[in-house]
Parts: sequence; structure tokens; C-alpha cells
Amino acid sequence: MSQLKPLIAGNWKMNGTKSLISEFVTTFNSDVINDIDVLICPPSVYIDTFIQQKTNTNCILNVGSQNVSEQQSGAFTGEISVGMLNEVNANFVIVGHSERRAIFGETPELVAKKYKMSLDNNLTPILCTGETDEDREANLTFNVIAKDIDAVINLAGIESFKDGVIAYEPVWAIGTGKSATPEQAQEVHLFIRNHLAKYDDEVAQGVRILYGGSVNEKNAAELFKQHDINGALVGGASLVSEKFMTICQNAQSSL
Ligand code: PGA
Repeated sequence: MSQLKPLIAGNWKMNGTKSLISEFVTTFNSDVINDIDVLICPPSVYIDTFIQQKTNTNCILNVGSQNVSEQQSGAFTGEISVGMLNEVNANFVIVGHSERRAIFGETPELVAKKYKMSLDNNLTPILCTGETDEDREANLTFNVIAKDIDAVINLAGIESFKDGVIAYEPVWAIGTGKSATPEQAQEVHLFIRNHLAKYDDEVAQGVRILYGGSVNEKNAAELFKQHDINGALVGGASLVSEKFMTICQNAQSSL
């Protein structure tokens, strides 16, 4: 890892219970992990519960959302707004997860609006991007990623990556148990940094780039040895507090 403060983020997707929240607040109620940022994004109905539970504890977890509306408020059934996330003190938002793009039809332009809306309202957006198997076979990995990033730059400017986070998540590695190798991930992370550097080198060197896709307590340490991997976005292994803790400890000891 480079000098940037690592971020280990857990995406619970449509999983989790109130008792899992208690388990996480207990496990992370410690100051042992102190040089990295740690985040859990539970389903939105649990965000406030999670934050309430950790109040007056030493739990180091940040709590964020898996999605947000690009609109401020109004007749948008089923959506949640930045204002609501502000009110419950959430501080991060995942935008453009591949499941949102593939299942719910989110386009690079829509995701860029969500990214900007989050940033404009003091929420740190985590922009997910990554190629499918077919993209990789057709040598389109870099094109797909550049398109997602450029949609944000076109709408919000390169400076918007000063306070944001990017997560490289190859679709073929998500939930498959088949992580990218550390070298494969590093190659794409470096591409992302170099792509941003074409616009602004300082911004490029400062942005945290997370790797996501079958990260677990066994492969995390090797991934974190790569220079341009600044943390992880973890799905399945973020549902078991000990596994997630091990990943965080690996990030901490990689510094
Ligand atoms: P996974 O999911 O760790 O279960 O592969 C990663 C993600 O979707 O963010």
C-alpha cells in the first residue's frame, strides 16, 4: 500500500439483522484498529439502528449507505435521499455498484449524478467500476473503467475525486470466490491512477482506490501489498465479524 490511509468497507447487500449489528458493534468496540478507516454499509433500514447502537461506545465503525437517490426529495417511491442520510449521520455512500448497474439499469451518467449529489452534501461517495468477463476477453477493461470515471469528471470535475473514493470491482470476481490476482488488480488500479493523472496529478495521487471482488480473510494480505491498492470493498466476508476484523488487521499491518 502507498501512504494513503486505507479504507476497509463492508457491503452487506440485502443481508443482515439487528443481532448482526450488535455483533459488529461489540467486535469493533476497540481501539486496536486505529490507523485505518473502517465502514459498514448495511441495508438502509438499519443505518440509523447501527449508528444509534454505536453511540457512546468505542466502536470505530463508520456507517454508510449502499445507494442514494440523485434527487433531493419528492415523489420517488422507494428511494432515500442525501438529506435523510445526513440526518441519521451516515457518512459514506456506495454509488454505481455493479449490481445496481446490471440489475437496476443505472447508467454511468446516473451514477455520476449520485456521486455529485453525495459529495455536495458532505457524504463520501465510493464510485464502483469494473469490467465483466466479456469486457475483459474483448480487451475492453480500461475502456469500461474510463467511461465510468469520465462520466463523473464531466459532471463534477476532476476535483471531485479529492474527497471521493474509487472501488475497482471486476464483475467476474464478485461473489464468485474467484478474486482478481494481486497483479491483475494492481494493473487496473495503476491504470485508474494514471487516467486521473491526465487531468490532475495531485488528485490522482491522493485518491483511495479500493479493490473489491471475493476479498476474504485469506487473500487480503497479499492484495494489500500492492502499491495502488488502498483498501477493500468486501461483500460476503463482511457478514462475519471475525473475518472482517481479520481483513482490517491485515490492512493495518500492511502499513
Ligand atoms: P464479494 O462482493 O466480496 O462477495 O465478492 C464484493 C462486492 O460486491 O462489493
